[in-house]
Amino acid sequence: MGPTLDLFGGDDTPQAGRESLGAQSVVLRGYALPDAAALLAGVQIVAAQAPFRNMVTPGGYTMSVALTNCGRLGWTTDAQGYRYNRNDPLSGLPWPDMPAVFDDLARRGAAEAGFPGFAPDACLVNRYEPGSRLSLHQDKDERDYGSPIVSVSLGMPAVFLFGGHERADKTQRVPLFHGDVVVWGGVDRLRFHGVLPLKDRPHPLLGSRRINITLRRAG
Ligand code: SIN
Ligand code: FE2
Repeated sequence: MGPTLDLFGGDDTPQAGRESLGAQSVVLRGYALPDAAALLAGVQIVAAQAPFRNMVTPGGYTMSVALTNCGRLGWTTDAQGYRYNRNDPLSGLPWPDMPAVFDDLARRGAAEAGFPGFAPDACLVNRYEPGSRLSLHQDKDERDYGSPIVSVSLGMPAVFLFGGHERADKTQRVPLFHGDVVVWGGVDRLRFHGVLPLKDRPHPLLGSRRINITLRRAG
């Protein structure tokens, strides 16, 4: 058993409470649990209209994380770069509507973390499988850094890396579980973050998958 597995702990997995990651960043343990079934139903509806796909980075790499979007704006990447689009490039149609439960959870979670008045207009849905990873990056394609990022974890656990303002800064390793919500904004809005390669630890509801729903104010 490697150090990554050990991080997940056992039956003492925290189901509630808050863990500070920085001055304006926090993990709300289990905050999305009451809404988990509705969130997953929402993901199914979104993915039926705008399927998950593995996009290519400007550097020519195919992402191991598959993604789709909902809401007014959707984040995409291709050879030309990262950007927000009103339409799904696969279909040419507007991204599916953001399910009300996504919007509601994001507003409540943001307020709980000290960001009242958050109104997301973009929702990125990421799907991870064993081995999927997200290298360290900053969320900086949004027009408005004044709004926080609200990130909801469902399914298999993952190790979230939360760094500083420089890529080389030391990172905290934060295990994230089904139902956890991470919020970062304000002075922490541009901190580097990523996800370590997922271990296969099948989840009762989602099997060998992890879904991350990230809500932002992009436009
Ligand atoms: C992201 O940075 O877009 C996703 C983070 C996560 O999957 O927890
Ligand atoms: Fe991100």
